[in-house]
Amino acid sequence: MKLILLGPPGAGKGTQAKMLVERFGVPQISTGDILRVAVKEGTPMGLKAKSCMDSGALVPDDVVVGIVEERLQKDDCASGFILDGFPRTVPQADALTKTLAVMSKDLDAVISLEVDIEALVARLAGRRTCKACGAGYHLEYEPPAKPGVCDTCGGKLIQRDDDQEETIRNRMAVYLDQTLPLVEYYGKSGLLSKVDGMLPIEDVRRAILDALQVAE
Ligand code: AP5
Repeated sequence: MKLILLGPPGAGKGTQAKMLVERFGVPQISTGDILRVAVKEGTPMGLKAKSCMDSGALVPDDVVVGIVEERLQKDDCASGFILDGFPRTVPQADALTKTLAVMSKDLDAVISLEVDIEALVARLAGRRTCKACGAGYHLEYEPPAKPGVCDTCGGKLIQRDDDQEETIRNRMAVYLDQTLPLVEYYGKSGLLSKVDGMLPIEDVRRAILDALQVAE
């Protein structure tokens, strides 16, 4: 399965990608996760990305295109991948098309998670992530068994730096301006399916599998 998950910040791309990884046995490629690791480790790429991420702006196309091109060459992508948060601009989508052509690979599908932007602000404000293993939670919709503690590894749950309301609103504005055009871009290619991302998490997963025409 070679799949792109499109949607605004908080649409549920990461949540669904993790479930699809289990279903299809292919890796999740999240440019946001890769960039956050680089920021934490203080690599040159991380230092370059940090100010963009903190303000809710996009990291320059050449940086993320380089990340994804390198990641797609790894052995675990041989039978597919779930792209989460990439592409995010038309130049990134064009670069991906070229990269896949060179690799003689075709995308199977693009899923656009359709959501209410205002509801996402509340969704993101309630998001918590495990500092140790990266597992995702939501204070209301996907709470951990014990407050502040990861169910999987016992790690501490933290709030992402860019999940403050002002930054969330900047991220939404950037999405509408730079990423939304990709819905039309992939619509023209015939690969796009729209899925209601406002349903409960499990129902969204089922709707994605239906759109992909695969069994549970
Ligand atoms: P990134 O990490 O990609 O953030 P994002 O796109 O803003 O997406 P999020 O991770 O916030 O949301 P999500 O859709 O994954 O939602 P989630 O599943 O977590 O990017 C961060 C930054 O990195 C960018 O701002 C940019 O600076 C940079 N960057 C990354 N990629 C880039 C690129 N390609 N080009 C340039 N710059 C790039 O869900 C959110 C919460 O809601 C969770 O708590 C979850 O439990 C809950 N939830 C999920 N689904 C549901 C549901 N159906 N109902 C109720 N709650 C739900």
